[in-house]
Amino acid sequence: MGKHTTMRTLQVQDISLSFGDRELLKDFGFTLSERSRAALAGANGSGKSTLLKAIAGTIKPDSMTISLTRNARVSYLPQSDIVLPDSTVYEAAEEGFSRFDAMLGEMRELEERTGRGGKEAMDAAQRLSECHDTLTQSGYYDRKQRIESILFGLGFSKDDLGRSARTFSGGYQMRIALARILVEDPDFLLLDEPTNYLDIEALVWLEEYLRSFSGGLMLVSHDQGFLDDMVTEVYELFNGRLTRYQGNYTQYVARREEEIKELEKRARRQKEEIEKTEEFIERFRYKATKSRQVQSRIKALEKIELVEIPPHLKKLSFTSPPSPHSGNDVLSVEHLSKSYGDHAIYTDFSFLVRKGERLAITGRNGAGKSTLLRMIAGVDRDYSGEIRDGAGVKKAYFAQDTENTLDMEASVLEEAEGNADTKDIPGVRNLLGAFLFSDDDVFKKVSVLSGGEKSRLALLKILLHPSNLLLLDEPTNHLDINAKEMLEKAIASYGGTVIFVSHDRHFIRNLATRILYLSEDGPEFFDGDYSYFEWKIEEKEARFKVKRTKEAKKEERIAEPALSHEEQKQRRNRIKALERESEKLMAEIEALGKEKERLEEEIAKPENYSDGKKISQLLAEKDELESRISEKEERWMEISEEMENGKDS
Ligand SMILES: Nc1ncnc2c1ncn2[C@@H]1O[C@H](COP(=O)(O)OP(=O)(O)OP(=O)(O)O)[C@@H](O)[C@H]1O
Ligand SMILES: [Mg+2]
Repeated sequence: MGKHTTMRTLQVQDISLSFGDRELLKDFGFTLSERSRAALAGANGSGKSTLLKAIAGTIKPDSMTISLTRNARVSYLPQSDIVLPDSTVYEAAEEGFSRFDAMLGEMRELEERTGRGGKEAMDAAQRLSECHDTLTQSGYYDRKQRIESILFGLGFSKDDLGRSARTFSGGYQMRIALARILVEDPDFLLLDEPTNYLDIEALVWLEEYLRSFSGGLMLVSHDQGFLDDMVTEVYELFNGRLTRYQGNYTQYVARREEEIKELEKRARRQKEEIEKTEEFIERFRYKATKSRQVQSRIKALEKIELVEIPPHLKKLSFTSPPSPHSGNDVLSVEHLSKSYGDHAIYTDFSFLVRKGERLAITGRNGAGKSTLLRMIAGVDRDYSGEIRDGAGVKKAYFAQDTENTLDMEASVLEEAEGNADTKDIPGVRNLLGAFLFSDDDVFKKVSVLSGGEKSRLALLKILLHPSNLLLLDEPTNHLDINAKEMLEKAIASYGGTVIFVSHDRHFIRNLATRILYLSEDGPEFFDGDYSYFEWKIEEKEARFKVKRTKEAKKEERIAEPALSHEEQKQRRNRIKALERESEKLMAEIEALGKEKERLEEEIAKPENYSDGKKISQLLAEKDELESRISEKEERWMEISEEMENGKDS
């Protein structure tokens, strides 16, 4: 490296961290340079936030060595627990310039000294001019313009700038914190899920901003669209280790899928082997002649290193508790008008929601999606017109910051049980399992949960609460792909009516029976077929997309505009058929699994040990069952693959 062009780097080495028995970070390292554009990927709870916190110094790992180029600065946006100063929005963002406070203090002193004359004054003037240069170069004197352009980009209005920062909702507080960090203009930017609370306009703005950002970047996000084109390398945290994948996010996903398939094969083979070995041990445990072979197999079993599969491959199903009965008209909204100041959000808006509907509310932010949900939930009563619940309606409301209502001191299990009907309590452990909380996880304190884990717990609580009208505001924020799928199934199995706000296309596509689209042209309903809605919206959004040709290209890849409405429909029908088959297979596999368990119990019965004939017959049956199961599993995987490809090609 040349003398004058030292590349700035942030080097992390030998980082390890355990929580009790769980080794979360198992002694690894990596290096970011000022040119790095890296994503930090991994499932919910894999340790992404923990890693960033350790680097940023908010927690102390068991071991870590950090080397940072001299004078380089690192800024970090946490995923949660943002604490803003008690000041206006503008002042909070302006704190990004507080790094010059010391210099400004020094300058005041220098100014005094310049008045004293003589050599001291000359030196002071010299130093003062250096300081001015530094400030000019860092944009300090143009700071007002810079701060405002960042705040406007992130969706604040001129009026907002003078308002108290702490009066804003959680999502907007995150934006204020983000603004401050961008104002800091660091050499390394570590952002933990910056996109969760951004609407499309702010998101597009942030993408542009980060593209022209000149330092090193590490991003955590579950939004693939955002990460694509944004990063040139992906670090994946899995099982306590960090693996680097060269290339953009899509390339990473593709390579990872290949690897996982391979892993899955290996895991299956391993499982078969283990089962065979265990069988052998079971069978010959009491035979003295075989004792050596048995012993060596027991040893071999102990030594085996299990092939671990990323948790998103564990498919689980969730069935929500039955919903209390409600009338047919669940909700009626009549002549609703609502405005913020002069800004009218709804004018004379009426609609009816019927039992069993799953109404998706989508469209740009600021259009009033959350506001509508808050009014329906009865949290915001400042409107004219009428919102009436039908007979017997029991609402459950998941607001964007519901995870903040969790009791941080309670355990996961206590939180979940506290919300369940007494008769459902025995099943809570299972439901927690379905919501991806494993055995040990349920005793964790809520305060230590990761962002995705908190969301999952808050959602489970809401689903456990006996209700028949579910109101969900952006429920997929923080969730990884696996958890999203799980939530989708849970909502699909919910017996009542659902109104949800989302901008996740997959989610809407798979769940909505009707769509309320909010735009400048006012509210608009789309009944039934999602593909029709998507097609209409494509047309509409085309106008908006012209602004950003690059995104437009990317969006087109995702949104399949090359397909006609008819073709899209056919594809969806195909996928529906596959889904049905997949569900059927799952049920069959489960049933066969139960049958196998029964056989195994039978085989294990002491009274059968002596009956060699019976045992061998049982074993043959078990063999047969096993091959049927693996046949079905294979078919199931084929289908899953085709569904995946069909959905996102
Ligand atoms: N103090 C603690 N004690 C015990 N476990 C903890 C503690 N802090 C974090 N954990 C656990 O460590 C794991 C990693 O948490 P982390 O917040 O780093 O995950 P993440 O990868 O950021 O997940 P997400 O995608 O949900 O944000 C989680 O399972 C969490 O419950
Ligand atoms: Mg996290």
